[in-house]
Amino acid sequence: MMNDNQKPIIIAIDGPAASGKGSLAKKLAKELNYDFLDTGALYRRVALNILDNGDDINDESIAVRASLDFNENLDVKTLEDERLRSDTIGSAASVVAQFGKVRQALIDFQRNFGAKASLGAVLDGRDIGTVICPNAQIKLFITATAEKRAKRRHKELQSRGINATYGDVLAEMQERDERDSVRLNPHLEPDHQVNIIDTSDMTPNEVMNVALDIINNRS
Ligand code: CDP
Repeated sequence: MMNDNQKPIIIAIDGPAASGKGSLAKKLAKELNYDFLDTGALYRRVALNILDNGDDINDESIAVRASLDFNENLDVKTLEDERLRSDTIGSAASVVAQFGKVRQALIDFQRNFGAKASLGAVLDGRDIGTVICPNAQIKLFITATAEKRAKRRHKELQSRGINATYGDVLAEMQERDERDSVRLNPHLEPDHQVNIIDTSDMTPNEVMNVALDIINNRS
């Protein structure tokens, strides 16, 4: 793709849990040789730091302090901690992510990540196309029915040897969707340039091909 004005190309990918946005984002970044940022890991890390301190995840002032501390001493290596990947931390992340000041503390890092990319950057999250990078050249909204997403997450947990019933996974997902619903809405998109991809009946390869078509046909 031509990078006409020397600015890195930003691909913003938003969508609910287990929609396939994370694996798509990673694959696109690899294919295009772009930098990749899983912004959910930032919220997960703030949540994990709070829990590691034995603090209350629902306490706004604690969450704000934790996000400011995290931002000040940000070390991207701490985002690779395997403990970040559990559903418990996913849920805890969605609790701290509700606090406006926590979101505010994490904005600059996300924006700078895109701005300092050499070729381009793929960022995935919940508000990338709407708040973080409203001028992103490509915006994708990856979604699927709650049942399909719960099925995928359940299968993934089983393959990692984690015991959970499908019903529990679905309930947890619906609860998280509810908390995230305020910001997770493609219609909040300022310029209506978002491409919605419903992956309910698609394989990961099909999703990748649709996304590449959108990117290659960018006007
Ligand atoms: O991969 P999955 O969708 O399960 O989770 P994630 O993307 O790591 O996000 C975990 C939680 O962090 C979400 O449920 C959101 O509440 C929050 N989050 C957010 O508010 N904004 C983002 N840009 C990314 C995540």
